[in-house]
Amino acid sequence: MGKKLLVTGGAGFIGSNFIHYWIEKYPQDLIVNLDALTYAGNLENLKSIENPPNYKFVKADISDKEKINEIISSEKPDAIIHYAAESHVDRSILGPENFVRTNVLGTFNLLEAARQNGNIRFHHVSTDEVFGSLGPNDAPFNETTPYDPRSPYSASKASSDHLVRAYFHTFGLPITISNCANNYGPYHFPEKLIPLFVTNLIEGKKIPLYGDGMNVRDWLYVQDHCEAIDLILQKGKIGETYCVGGNCEKTNKEIAYKILELMNEGEEMIEFVADRKGHDLRYSIDSSKIQRELGWTPKTSFEEGMKKTIQWYKENEDWWKKIKSGEYQNYYEKNYKDR
Ligand code: NAD
Ligand code: TYD
Repeated sequence: MGKKLLVTGGAGFIGSNFIHYWIEKYPQDLIVNLDALTYAGNLENLKSIENPPNYKFVKADISDKEKINEIISSEKPDAIIHYAAESHVDRSILGPENFVRTNVLGTFNLLEAARQNGNIRFHHVSTDEVFGSLGPNDAPFNETTPYDPRSPYSASKASSDHLVRAYFHTFGLPITISNCANNYGPYHFPEKLIPLFVTNLIEGKKIPLYGDGMNVRDWLYVQDHCEAIDLILQKGKIGETYCVGGNCEKTNKEIAYKILELMNEGEEMIEFVADRKGHDLRYSIDSSKIQRELGWTPKTSFEEGMKKTIQWYKENEDWWKKIKSGEYQNYYEKNYKDR
């Protein structure tokens, strides 16, 4: 056997893509997927790999300090890769409390467990949203950009980043952090922009564009994010932060028009709706540090990534229809409970 990796939030969008990526690339390693299965967790994302000897699922909430310490002290992983989070900005506006509990307290519990069980290598997966909002002509965010979070989601992620860094400086915990741009690709929960628009169009529904549609995000295909984290785990310098972006800034309107074009739909399918409260205008990431130091570069172009993503949603209607109907939440009860 190779290494043992404890992945938190492995039933979510990026975590499940990472587990698929890792099991295929390093079949000798063992993955322990620790996830609470909130509304965003879906074990169907991992259906094709749920039985092999190199994968195991543990249902647990990272805000439960004792349980987390118990799991980490019995599993003794070589590394923790921390994805688990409340991740949707709109939900953080409707109900911020879960964001503080999971993203801040949950991260703290994991850091404490890592420290108390032999200073376990810890990679923290974070977001570019911690840096705030850019004006149209501002330079992209980089590792030295001051933090300026503006939503309860980004504020809770910023707090967790600070805690992770504090555990390095104070206790010598071997950490790294990545702050990544917006991801897209398979298994993306259909409440986020791209999967919501694609699945709505398949269902013949309109696509809701917030405000004037001129907010800008930097987009990265999820596989490229997994490769960046792999490189950071293998070659990243302990204590360091790496900014990861797609060099692919698009307005939401451009995203809408690209999806309409690739799905042969007309602009009458766009519905302009009320803007998000405190809507950050623009995110952009300068990835030159990870490119220079670790040789990472995004491999999937926006055109190719969008085509692959739309194709995936067309071929996996069963997956997202169960999410939209709520049926996916029975998967654990049916398939895992008595294991
Ligand atoms: P997601 O919402 O799809 O998945 C989150 C996962 O965490 C789910 O499986 C959920 O069940 C689990 N979870 C939530 N609360 C938990 C708790 N208290 N205990 C245990 N598990 C819990 O999120 P995602 O989009 O895959 O994002 C993963 C990570 O990457 C997050 O930390 C997010 O901040 C970060 N990130 C996301 C993006 C993006 O574009 N999606 C970009 C940059 C960084
Ligand atoms: P989202 O996918 O929620 O990611 P984030 O807010 O973390 O960047 O939203 C991406 C952008 O798309 C953001 O500017 C808000 C906008 N948006 C819409 O215009 N309509 C929608 O229905 C959603 C979900 C998002």
